[in-house]
Amino acid sequence: IKHLRSAADLDAATATLILDTAGEMAALAGREVKKLPTLRGRTVVNLFYEDSTRTRISFEAAAKRLSADVINFSAKGSSVSKGESLKDTALTLQAMGADAVVIRHPASGAPHRLAAWVDGSVVNAGDGTHEHPTQALLDAYTMRSRLGRLDGLRVAIVGDVLHSRVARSNVLLLTTLGAEVTLVGPPTLIPVDIAAALSPATKVSYDLDSVLPDMDVVMMLRVQTERMQDSYFPSAREYSRRYGLDLARMRKLPEHAIVMHPGPMNRGMEITPEVADSSRSTIVEQVANGVSARMAVLYLLLGGKA
Ligand code: CP
Repeated sequence: IKHLRSAADLDAATATLILDTAGEMAALAGREVKKLPTLRGRTVVNLFYEDSTRTRISFEAAAKRLSADVINFSAKGSSVSKGESLKDTALTLQAMGADAVVIRHPASGAPHRLAAWVDGSVVNAGDGTHEHPTQALLDAYTMRSRLGRLDGLRVAIVGDVLHSRVARSNVLLLTTLGAEVTLVGPPTLIPVDIAAALSPATKVSYDLDSVLPDMDVVMMLRVQTERMQDSYFPSAREYSRRYGLDLARMRKLPEHAIVMHPGPMNRGMEITPEVADSSRSTIVEQVANGVSARMAVLYLLLGGKA
C-alpha cells in the first residue's frame, strides 16, 4: 500500500506484517540499536493542524530512528493563520520533496484530500472524529505483546465512541484481525448505526459492569468535552458513576485482563488515577510501542514493502 489513511486500508496480512515489523523495531531498540540507516535521504513531514503530544513526538522519533530528514510543521505560527489552504500548503510541501506526509487535521477526510495533491505517502495521524489508524496499530501491538494473540480476543471500548477516531480505527483493525469488540457507553454516545456500519460483528452494551467479567481488554476513551453538546452528556459525576473505571470496577475484570487508554486522559472522569497507574494499565507501554509501530509504518510505506 502507498498510503495509510484508514485502518480499512489494511487487510489482515498487511496489518500483521506491520505488527511483526514493529516487533523487530522494538527488539532492535532493546539491543541498543538506536538508529537504522533505512530512510537516509528521505524526507518525512509532520503536518499538524491540531494539538498532539504523543503522536507528533513519536512520529518524529520514529522517522529520526530510521535516519529520515524530518520537517515539523505546525499550523500555529505558519501561513495557515494568513488563510493559506490545505491544498496550497500541500503543494508547498510537494515542492520541497516530501517522501511522506504525516497529517493531523480537525476535518474528517483531510488525509484523503491531501493524497490527491502530493506524490509521497500520506499517513493519517488523526482526522477529526474519523480515524487514527496508527493508534489502532500500536494498540493492537500492545494487546498482542501482552496477551499473545488478537484472534478471539474480547475487547471492550468504553465511553465517548461518538467522537472517537481511536474507537473507529480500533474497531476496523481489531475485527480484521479476529478480535471481538464490544462498544460500551451511554446510548447518546454510541449510536447503534455507527457500530453496525463499522463492522456487523461489533456488539453494543450500555452496562459496563455486566461486560467487564468477560473481557480480556478494556480500552477507556477520553471524554471529548470540546466536541460535546450538552444533549449528549449527562454530567461528569453521573458519567463517572456509570462508565468511569475505578478500582472496584477493575476488580470485576478477569485476572489476566489489561486496561488501556490512548491518552490524553481525564483522570477522575473516565479513569481514576489508581487504575491508570496500576500494574494492569498499559498506558505508558502504549506510548513506547507507538514509536515502534510508527517506525514499522514508515519503513514499510517508504520502502514499498507493505
Ligand atoms: N493518543 C493520541 O493521539 O494522543 P495525542 O493527541 O497526544 O497525539
